Amino acid sequence: MAIIHDDFGRRRFLSQAVMGFGLLFGMGTLGLRFLQFLIPSPTPKRYEAVLIGAESRVPVGDAVPMDLGGQKIMVLRTNDGVVAFSRRCTDLGCLVSWSKEREQFVCPCHQGVFDKTGRNIAGPPPRPLDRFEVVKRGGQLYVNIQSS
Ligand code: FES
Repeated sequence: MAIIHDDFGRRRFLSQAVMGFGLLFGMGTLGLRFLQFLIPSPTPKRYEAVLIGAESRVPVGDAVPMDLGGQKIMVLRTNDGVVAFSRRCTDLGCLVSWSKEREQFVCPCHQGVFDKTGRNIAGPPPRPLDRFEVVKRGGQLYVNIQSS
């Protein structure tokens, strides 16, 4: 602890203490802003239900490609129900297509293969196809897509 001998020393000590506190406060604020920049707060995702029509639009065992709000999707109908996947291959983003004979999604770029649940089963794709929620309301199907 500093020993203060006179008025001049006390003023100098107080002045340096105030400056030090201000500097610490400023650096703390800057550090906090920097952390906020590095770790942005998550913004809630917004979804929009887009009508795709009656279930009969998609024959059982087949898939129909659609463009919903700029998102290329594939709506597949099986005996288990209707599912929707992004057509973007999880390797490099080429558009996959449905092979009815193989009951698989295939990517033409590097022979990536996904099963009917969207799971990547062959080739370079590192993960399953993105999946969209399908909701049936009043006999009509809606796909929930992420809106911007
Ligand atoms: S982009 Fe689909 S396998 Fe490479």
